[in-house]
Amino acid sequence: MKTLIRHAQVVLPESTERINVLIESGRIAALDVPDGAAADEVIDASGLHLIPGVVDDQVHFREPGLTHKEDLLTATRACARGGVTSFLEMPNTKPTTTSVSALESKLALAAGRCVVNYGFYIGATPENVAELARATRTPGIKIFIGSSTGDLLVDEQSALERIFAETTLPICAHCEDESTVRANAARIGGGSKISDHSRIRDNAAALIATKRAVDLAERHRHRFHVLHVSTAEEVQFLRGTSDLITAEACPHHLFFTVDDYERLGSLIQMNPSIKSRADAAAVWQGLLDGTLEVIATDHAPHTLEEKRQPYPKSPSGLPAVENSLALMLNQVSLGLCSLRQVVSWMCEAPARVWNLHQKGAIREGWDADLVLVDLHRTAVVRNADQLTKCGWTPWDGVSLTGWPVRTFVHGRTVYCDGRVVAEGTGREILYDRG
Ligand code: DOR
Repeated sequence: MKTLIRHAQVVLPESTERINVLIESGRIAALDVPDGAAADEVIDASGLHLIPGVVDDQVHFREPGLTHKEDLLTATRACARGGVTSFLEMPNTKPTTTSVSALESKLALAAGRCVVNYGFYIGATPENVAELARATRTPGIKIFIGSSTGDLLVDEQSALERIFAETTLPICAHCEDESTVRANAARIGGGSKISDHSRIRDNAAALIATKRAVDLAERHRHRFHVLHVSTAEEVQFLRGTSDLITAEACPHHLFFTVDDYERLGSLIQMNPSIKSRADAAAVWQGLLDGTLEVIATDHAPHTLEEKRQPYPKSPSGLPAVENSLALMLNQVSLGLCSLRQVVSWMCEAPARVWNLHQKGAIREGWDADLVLVDLHRTAVVRNADQLTKCGWTPWDGVSLTGWPVRTFVHGRTVYCDGRVVAEGTGREILYDRG
Protein backbone atom coordinates (compact mmCIF):
# COMPACT_ATOMS: atom_id res chain seq x y z
CA MET A 1 0.00 0.00 0.00
CA LYS A 2 1.38 3.39 -1.06
CA THR A 3 0.03 6.65 0.33
CA LEU A 4 0.96 10.06 -1.03
CA ILE A 5 0.51 13.08 1.21
CA ARG A 6 0.53 16.09 -1.07
CA HIS A 7 1.07 19.79 -0.49
CA ALA A 8 1.52 19.82 3.29
CA GLN A 9 4.12 22.04 4.93
CA VAL A 10 6.39 19.25 6.17
CA VAL A 11 8.34 19.84 9.38
CA LEU A 12 11.70 18.16 8.68
CA PRO A 13 14.63 17.99 11.13
CA GLU A 14 16.39 20.98 9.57
CA SER A 15 13.68 22.90 7.72
CA THR A 16 9.98 23.14 6.93
CA GLU A 17 9.15 22.62 3.27
CA ARG A 18 6.09 22.27 1.10
CA ILE A 19 6.87 18.84 -0.32
CA ASN A 20 5.04 15.60 -1.10
CA VAL A 21 5.65 12.60 1.15
CA LEU A 22 5.34 9.02 -0.05
CA ILE A 23 4.55 6.31 2.46
CA GLU A 24 5.04 2.65 1.65
CA SER A 25 4.88 -0.47 3.83
CA GLY A 26 4.54 1.59 6.98
CA ARG A 27 7.64 3.71 6.34
CA ILE A 28 8.41 7.11 4.93
CA ALA A 29 9.53 5.82 1.54
CA ALA A 30 10.48 9.11 -0.11
CA LEU A 31 10.41 12.85 0.49
CA ASP A 32 9.84 15.44 -2.18
CA VAL A 33 8.27 13.19 -4.79
CA PRO A 34 6.40 14.66 -7.80
CA ASP A 35 2.68 15.48 -7.59
CA GLY A 36 1.92 12.61 -9.95
CA ALA A 37 3.86 9.88 -8.09
CA ALA A 38 2.01 6.57 -8.22
CA ALA A 39 0.07 5.77 -5.03
CA ASP A 40 -2.98 3.78 -3.93
CA GLU A 41 -4.18 6.65 -1.79
CA VAL A 42 -3.60 10.37 -2.34
CA ILE A 43 -4.25 12.81 0.48
CA ASP A 44 -4.48 16.50 -0.31
CA ALA A 45 -3.04 18.27 2.72
CA SER A 46 -3.04 21.81 1.39
CA GLY A 47 -3.13 24.32 4.24
CA LEU A 48 -1.96 21.72 6.79
CA HIS A 49 1.39 20.95 8.42
CA LEU A 50 2.79 17.43 8.58
CA ILE A 51 4.75 16.68 11.75
CA PRO A 52 6.20 13.50 13.27
CA GLY A 53 3.78 11.72 15.62
CA VAL A 54 4.04 12.80 19.23
CA VAL A 55 6.02 10.49 21.52
CA ASP A 56 4.58 10.76 25.04
CA ASP A 57 7.20 9.33 27.36
CA GLN A 58 5.14 9.50 30.54
CA VAL A 59 1.66 8.03 30.75
CA HIS A 60 -0.35 5.84 33.15
CA PHE A 61 -2.80 3.71 31.18
CA ARG A 62 -4.08 1.58 34.10
CA GLU A 63 -4.05 -1.84 32.48
CA PRO A 64 -3.76 -4.34 34.04
CA GLY A 65 -5.71 -3.96 37.23
CA LEU A 66 -7.20 -0.47 37.22
CA THR A 67 -9.25 -0.65 34.06
CA HIS A 68 -12.29 1.11 35.53
CA LYS A 69 -10.18 4.29 35.05
CA GLU A 70 -8.68 3.55 31.62
CA ASP A 71 -7.49 0.67 29.47
CA LEU A 72 -5.07 0.28 26.60
CA LEU A 73 -7.79 0.60 23.97
CA THR A 74 -9.52 3.70 25.36
CA ALA A 75 -6.17 5.32 26.16
CA THR A 76 -4.76 4.71 22.71
CA ARG A 77 -7.91 5.94 20.98
CA ALA A 78 -7.37 9.12 22.97
CA CYS A 79 -3.73 9.13 21.84
CA ALA A 80 -4.76 8.85 18.19
CA ARG A 81 -7.12 11.79 18.60
CA GLY A 82 -4.38 13.81 20.28
CA GLY A 83 -1.70 13.09 17.68
CA VAL A 84 0.27 10.81 20.03
CA THR A 85 1.61 7.89 17.96
CA SER A 86 3.89 6.30 20.58
CA PHE A 87 3.65 6.09 24.34
CA LEU A 88 5.90 4.89 27.12
CA GLU A 89 3.86 3.73 30.08
CA MET A 90 4.65 3.73 33.77
CA PRO A 91 4.85 0.63 35.98
CA ASN A 92 2.30 1.54 38.70
CA THR A 93 -0.42 -0.77 37.38
CA LYS A 94 -1.84 -3.78 39.28
CA PRO A 95 0.26 -5.85 39.40
CA THR A 96 3.19 -3.47 39.11
CA THR A 97 5.60 -3.89 36.20
CA THR A 98 8.56 -4.77 38.38
CA SER A 99 9.78 -8.02 36.85
CA VAL A 100 10.66 -9.18 33.37
CA SER A 101 7.68 -11.52 33.41
CA ALA A 102 5.27 -8.69 34.36
CA LEU A 103 6.80 -6.58 31.58
CA GLU A 104 6.29 -9.38 29.08
CA SER A 105 2.69 -9.88 30.21
CA LYS A 106 2.01 -6.19 29.64
CA LEU A 107 3.58 -6.33 26.18
CA ALA A 108 1.40 -9.36 25.42
CA LEU A 109 -1.68 -7.50 26.65
CA ALA A 110 -0.85 -4.56 24.36
CA ALA A 111 -0.17 -6.63 21.26
CA GLY A 112 -2.95 -6.26 18.72
CA ARG A 113 -5.03 -3.97 20.97
CA CYS A 114 -3.32 -0.60 20.96
CA VAL A 115 -4.17 1.97 18.30
CA VAL A 116 -0.69 3.52 18.67
CA ASN A 117 2.80 2.18 19.35
CA TYR A 118 3.62 1.02 22.85
CA GLY A 119 6.50 0.70 25.27
CA PHE A 120 6.52 0.00 29.00
CA TYR A 121 9.01 0.96 31.68
CA ILE A 122 10.15 -1.51 34.29
CA GLY A 123 9.68 -0.18 37.81
CA ALA A 124 12.31 -0.27 40.54
CA THR A 125 11.69 -1.68 44.00
CA PRO A 126 14.24 -1.90 46.83
CA GLU A 127 14.77 -5.59 45.94
CA ASN A 128 14.47 -6.08 42.17
CA VAL A 129 17.82 -4.88 40.82
CA ALA A 130 18.48 -8.27 39.16
CA GLU A 131 15.23 -7.93 37.17
CA LEU A 132 16.11 -4.36 36.21
CA ALA A 133 19.52 -5.50 35.02
CA ARG A 134 18.17 -8.19 32.71
CA ALA A 135 15.18 -6.37 31.17
CA THR A 136 15.58 -5.50 27.47
CA ARG A 137 12.13 -4.94 25.92
CA THR A 138 11.73 -1.63 27.72
CA PRO A 139 12.87 1.98 27.25
CA GLY A 140 14.25 2.10 30.78
CA ILE A 141 13.79 2.01 34.51
CA LYS A 142 11.34 4.12 36.48
CA ILE A 143 12.02 4.97 40.11
CA PHE A 144 9.52 6.65 42.41
CA ILE A 145 11.88 8.58 44.71
CA GLY A 146 8.86 9.70 46.68
CA SER A 147 5.57 7.87 46.75
CA SER A 148 2.66 8.67 44.48
CA THR A 149 -0.33 6.70 43.19
CA GLY A 150 0.39 3.03 43.99
CA ASP A 151 3.00 1.68 46.35
CA LEU A 152 6.20 1.88 44.33
CA LEU A 153 8.78 3.72 46.39
CA VAL A 154 12.55 3.45 46.61
CA ASP A 155 13.79 5.86 49.21
CA GLU A 156 16.75 4.17 50.95
CA GLN A 157 20.11 5.43 49.72
CA SER A 158 21.69 1.96 49.57
CA ALA A 159 18.93 0.64 47.29
CA LEU A 160 19.22 3.67 45.03
CA GLU A 161 23.02 3.29 44.84
CA ARG A 162 22.63 -0.33 43.75
CA ILE A 163 20.12 0.51 41.05
CA PHE A 164 22.39 3.18 39.55
CA ALA A 165 25.49 1.00 39.93
CA GLU A 166 24.20 -2.35 38.73
CA THR A 167 21.96 -1.48 35.77
CA THR A 168 22.65 -0.03 32.34
CA LEU A 169 19.24 1.02 30.97
CA PRO A 170 18.45 4.74 31.17
CA ILE A 171 16.67 5.67 34.40
CA CYS A 172 13.92 8.19 35.01
CA ALA A 173 12.43 9.22 38.31
CA HIS A 174 9.52 10.84 40.03
CA CYS A 175 11.38 13.29 42.25
CA GLU A 176 9.61 14.38 45.42
CA ASP A 177 11.46 13.82 48.68
CA GLU A 178 9.51 11.46 50.88
CA SER A 179 10.76 12.71 54.26
CA THR A 180 10.11 16.34 53.31
CA VAL A 181 6.59 15.43 52.16
CA ARG A 182 5.92 13.54 55.39
CA ALA A 183 7.30 16.33 57.58
CA ASN A 184 5.23 18.93 55.73
CA ALA A 185 2.11 16.78 56.07
CA ALA A 186 2.71 16.32 59.81
CA ARG A 187 3.29 20.07 60.29
CA ILE A 188 -0.06 20.97 58.75
CA GLY A 189 -1.98 18.08 60.28
CA GLY A 190 -2.28 15.96 57.14
CA GLY A 191 -4.03 18.66 55.12
CA SER A 192 -7.76 19.20 54.79
CA LYS A 193 -8.14 21.48 51.76
CA ILE A 194 -6.88 20.99 48.25
CA SER A 195 -4.43 23.91 48.39
CA ASP A 196 -2.64 22.06 51.22
CA HIS A 197 -1.48 19.58 48.57
CA SER A 198 0.99 22.11 47.19
CA ARG A 199 2.18 22.97 50.72
CA ILE A 200 2.79 19.29 51.50
CA ARG A 201 4.43 18.51 48.14
CA ASP A 202 6.29 21.80 48.10
CA ASN A 203 9.20 23.22 46.09
CA ALA A 204 11.76 21.94 48.58
CA ALA A 205 10.46 18.37 48.26
CA ALA A 206 10.89 18.48 44.50
CA LEU A 207 14.32 20.13 44.56
CA ILE A 208 15.80 17.84 47.24
CA ALA A 209 14.77 14.69 45.35
CA THR A 210 15.88 16.00 41.96
CA LYS A 211 19.30 16.92 43.39
CA ARG A 212 19.60 13.54 45.04
CA ALA A 213 18.78 11.64 41.84
CA VAL A 214 21.09 13.78 39.71
CA ASP A 215 23.90 13.24 42.21
CA LEU A 216 23.43 9.46 41.94
CA ALA A 217 23.38 9.61 38.13
CA GLU A 218 26.47 11.77 37.88
CA ARG A 219 28.52 9.71 40.36
CA HIS A 220 27.57 6.47 38.62
CA ARG A 221 27.87 7.99 35.10
CA HIS A 222 24.32 6.81 34.38
CA ARG A 223 21.86 8.32 31.85
CA PHE A 224 19.08 9.91 33.80
CA HIS A 225 15.85 11.72 32.92
CA VAL A 226 14.04 13.95 35.40
CA LEU A 227 10.29 13.58 34.96
CA HIS A 228 7.75 16.40 35.38
CA VAL A 229 9.90 19.30 36.57
CA SER A 230 7.58 21.67 38.45
CA THR A 231 9.67 24.32 40.20
CA ALA A 232 11.83 27.32 39.34
CA GLU A 233 14.49 25.94 41.69
CA GLU A 234 14.78 22.65 39.76
CA VAL A 235 15.03 24.47 36.43
CA GLN A 236 17.83 26.63 37.84
CA PHE A 237 19.63 23.59 39.27
CA LEU A 238 19.32 21.64 36.00
CA ARG A 239 21.10 24.42 34.10
CA GLY A 240 24.34 23.29 35.78
CA THR A 241 24.09 19.53 35.25
CA SER A 242 26.05 17.33 32.83
CA ASP A 243 25.03 15.81 29.48
CA LEU A 244 23.99 12.63 31.29
CA ILE A 245 20.92 14.45 32.53
CA THR A 246 17.79 15.31 30.55
CA ALA A 247 14.52 16.66 31.90
CA GLU A 248 10.92 17.27 30.99
CA ALA A 249 7.90 19.45 31.64
CA CYS A 250 4.19 18.60 31.65
CA PRO A 251 1.32 20.74 30.36
CA HIS A 252 -0.40 20.91 33.76
CA HIS A 253 2.68 22.51 35.32
CA LEU A 254 2.77 25.04 32.49
CA PHE A 255 -0.91 25.90 32.32
CA PHE A 256 -2.18 25.59 35.91
CA THR A 257 -1.05 27.30 39.08
CA VAL A 258 -2.14 27.15 42.73
CA ASP A 259 -4.57 29.98 41.92
CA ASP A 260 -6.57 27.46 39.85
CA TYR A 261 -7.41 25.27 42.86
CA GLU A 262 -10.32 27.59 43.60
CA ARG A 263 -11.85 26.90 40.18
CA LEU A 264 -10.77 23.30 39.54
CA GLY A 265 -10.20 21.85 43.01
CA SER A 266 -8.83 18.33 43.08
CA LEU A 267 -9.18 17.97 39.30
CA ILE A 268 -5.69 19.48 39.18
CA GLN A 269 -4.36 17.56 42.18
CA MET A 270 -1.13 16.09 40.84
CA ASN A 271 2.14 14.67 42.08
CA PRO A 272 4.38 16.64 41.79
CA SER A 273 1.85 19.26 42.83
CA ILE A 274 0.83 22.30 40.82
CA LYS A 275 3.00 25.24 41.88
CA SER A 276 2.99 29.05 41.69
CA ARG A 277 2.67 31.30 38.67
CA ALA A 278 6.42 32.08 38.96
CA ASP A 279 7.23 28.35 38.87
CA ALA A 280 5.06 27.81 35.78
CA ALA A 281 6.83 30.73 34.09
CA ALA A 282 10.23 29.28 35.02
CA VAL A 283 9.31 25.84 33.62
CA TRP A 284 8.23 27.51 30.37
CA GLN A 285 11.50 29.47 30.29
CA GLY A 286 13.37 26.20 30.86
CA LEU A 287 11.76 24.79 27.74
CA LEU A 288 12.53 27.87 25.70
CA ASP A 289 16.20 27.92 26.67
CA GLY A 290 16.66 24.15 26.24
CA THR A 291 17.18 23.25 29.91
CA LEU A 292 14.07 21.08 29.64
CA GLU A 293 14.07 19.13 26.39
CA VAL A 294 10.87 17.12 26.54
CA ILE A 295 7.16 17.72 27.02
CA ALA A 296 5.16 14.70 28.21
CA THR A 297 1.74 14.50 29.81
CA ASP A 298 1.87 12.20 32.87
CA HIS A 299 -1.65 11.24 31.66
CA ALA A 300 -3.07 9.75 34.87
CA PRO A 301 -6.81 9.18 34.67
CA HIS A 302 -9.05 8.70 37.69
CA THR A 303 -12.84 8.68 37.62
CA LEU A 304 -14.67 11.89 38.50
CA GLU A 305 -16.20 10.09 41.44
CA GLU A 306 -12.71 9.28 42.77
CA LYS A 307 -11.47 12.80 42.12
CA ARG A 308 -14.48 14.39 43.86
CA GLN A 309 -13.73 12.78 47.23
CA PRO A 310 -12.69 15.38 49.80
CA TYR A 311 -8.95 16.06 50.02
CA PRO A 312 -6.77 14.20 50.98
CA LYS A 313 -8.86 11.19 49.90
CA SER A 314 -8.95 12.47 46.32
CA PRO A 315 -6.28 10.79 44.15
CA SER A 316 -3.57 12.69 42.25
CA GLY A 317 -3.58 12.58 38.47
CA LEU A 318 -5.33 13.99 35.42
CA PRO A 319 -5.81 12.87 31.80
CA ALA A 320 -4.03 14.76 29.01
CA VAL A 321 -2.95 12.72 25.98
CA GLU A 322 -5.76 13.92 23.74
CA ASN A 323 -5.16 17.62 24.36
CA SER A 324 -1.42 18.00 24.91
CA LEU A 325 -0.50 18.67 21.29
CA ALA A 326 -3.41 21.11 20.83
CA LEU A 327 -2.38 22.91 24.02
CA MET A 328 1.10 23.39 22.60
CA LEU A 329 -0.12 24.32 19.11
CA ASN A 330 -2.23 26.96 20.81
CA GLN A 331 1.00 28.40 22.23
CA VAL A 332 2.24 28.57 18.63
CA SER A 333 -0.94 30.41 17.62
CA LEU A 334 -0.32 32.91 20.42
CA GLY A 335 3.20 33.52 19.13
CA LEU A 336 4.78 32.16 22.31
CA CYS A 337 6.85 29.45 20.58
CA SER A 338 7.32 27.97 17.13
CA LEU A 339 5.96 24.78 15.61
CA ARG A 340 9.59 23.66 15.25
CA GLN A 341 10.02 23.93 19.03
CA VAL A 342 6.84 21.94 19.66
CA VAL A 343 8.12 19.20 17.34
CA SER A 344 11.44 19.21 19.15
CA TRP A 345 9.85 18.98 22.63
CA MET A 346 7.10 16.47 21.84
CA CYS A 347 8.50 14.30 19.03
CA GLU A 348 12.26 14.50 18.44
CA ALA A 349 13.55 14.87 22.00
CA PRO A 350 11.57 12.07 23.67
CA ALA A 351 12.48 9.71 20.81
CA ARG A 352 16.15 10.65 21.27
CA VAL A 353 16.12 10.48 25.07
CA TRP A 354 14.66 6.95 25.04
CA ASN A 355 16.55 5.72 21.94
CA LEU A 356 13.41 4.93 19.95
CA HIS A 357 14.34 3.20 16.73
CA GLN A 358 13.53 5.35 13.69
CA LYS A 359 10.86 7.46 15.32
CA GLY A 360 10.38 11.11 16.23
CA ALA A 361 11.38 12.73 12.93
CA ILE A 362 10.33 12.81 9.29
CA ARG A 363 13.23 11.06 7.54
CA GLU A 364 13.33 8.66 4.62
CA GLY A 365 13.20 5.06 5.82
CA TRP A 366 11.80 5.96 9.25
CA ASP A 367 8.43 4.81 10.57
CA ALA A 368 5.48 6.65 9.03
CA ASP A 369 4.09 7.78 12.40
CA LEU A 370 2.80 11.17 11.34
CA VAL A 371 0.25 13.83 12.17
CA LEU A 372 -1.42 16.41 9.98
CA VAL A 373 -2.14 19.51 12.03
CA ASP A 374 -4.29 22.51 11.22
CA LEU A 375 -2.69 25.53 12.87
CA HIS A 376 -5.77 27.66 12.22
CA ARG A 377 -8.51 25.38 13.48
CA THR A 378 -10.17 26.63 16.66
CA ALA A 379 -12.21 24.29 18.84
CA VAL A 380 -13.35 24.17 22.44
CA VAL A 381 -12.21 21.23 24.56
CA ARG A 382 -15.26 19.44 25.93
CA ASN A 383 -15.62 16.67 28.49
CA ALA A 384 -18.29 15.10 26.29
CA ASP A 385 -15.81 14.66 23.41
CA GLN A 386 -13.06 12.97 25.40
CA LEU A 387 -12.15 9.42 24.42
CA THR A 388 -10.30 8.66 27.64
CA LYS A 389 -12.40 6.25 29.69
CA CYS A 390 -12.50 8.66 32.64
CA GLY A 391 -14.49 11.05 30.44
CA TRP A 392 -13.27 14.40 31.70
CA THR A 393 -10.46 16.86 31.20
CA PRO A 394 -9.25 19.77 33.32
CA TRP A 395 -9.28 21.84 30.10
CA ASP A 396 -13.06 21.46 29.62
CA GLY A 397 -14.41 24.70 28.13
CA VAL A 398 -11.03 26.00 26.95
CA SER A 399 -10.79 27.21 23.36
CA LEU A 400 -7.61 26.18 21.54
CA THR A 401 -6.32 27.11 18.11
CA GLY A 402 -4.17 24.47 16.40
CA TRP A 403 -5.37 20.85 16.29
CA PRO A 404 -4.29 17.47 14.99
CA VAL A 405 -6.73 16.53 12.22
CA ARG A 406 -5.32 13.25 10.94
CA THR A 407 -3.00 10.74 12.61
CA PHE A 408 -1.02 7.97 10.90
CA VAL A 409 0.53 4.96 12.65
CA HIS A 410 2.92 2.96 10.50
CA GLY A 411 1.42 4.68 7.48
CA ARG A 412 -2.15 3.80 8.29
CA THR A 413 -4.73 6.50 9.08
CA VAL A 414 -5.95 5.84 12.62
CA TYR A 415 -7.73 9.14 13.27
CA CYS A 416 -9.43 11.42 10.76
CA ASP A 417 -12.28 13.93 10.76
CA GLY A 418 -12.94 13.56 14.44
CA ARG A 419 -13.11 9.76 14.44
CA VAL A 420 -10.80 6.90 15.33
CA VAL A 421 -10.89 4.76 12.19
CA ALA A 422 -8.51 1.87 12.94
CA GLU A 423 -7.56 -0.21 15.95
CA GLY A 424 -4.87 -2.75 16.74
CA THR A 425 -2.47 -0.73 14.60
CA GLY A 426 0.15 -0.06 17.29
CA ARG A 427 3.36 -2.07 17.44
CA GLU A 428 5.96 -2.68 20.11
CA ILE A 429 8.53 0.11 20.06
CA LEU A 430 12.12 -0.95 19.39
CA TYR A 431 15.10 0.72 21.01
CA ASP A 432 18.56 1.48 19.63
CA ARG A 433 21.11 0.17 22.10
CA GLY A 434 24.72 1.22 21.51
O1 DOR B 1 -0.33 12.70 40.03
C1 DOR B 1 0.16 11.62 39.72
N1 DOR B 1 -0.60 10.57 39.39
N2 DOR B 1 1.49 11.47 39.73
C2 DOR B 1 2.07 10.27 39.59
O2 DOR B 1 3.26 10.18 39.67
C3 DOR B 1 1.25 9.06 39.42
C4 DOR B 1 -0.03 9.39 38.83
C5 DOR B 1 -1.01 8.24 38.85
O3 DOR B 1 -0.62 7.15 38.47
O4 DOR B 1 -2.16 8.46 39.21
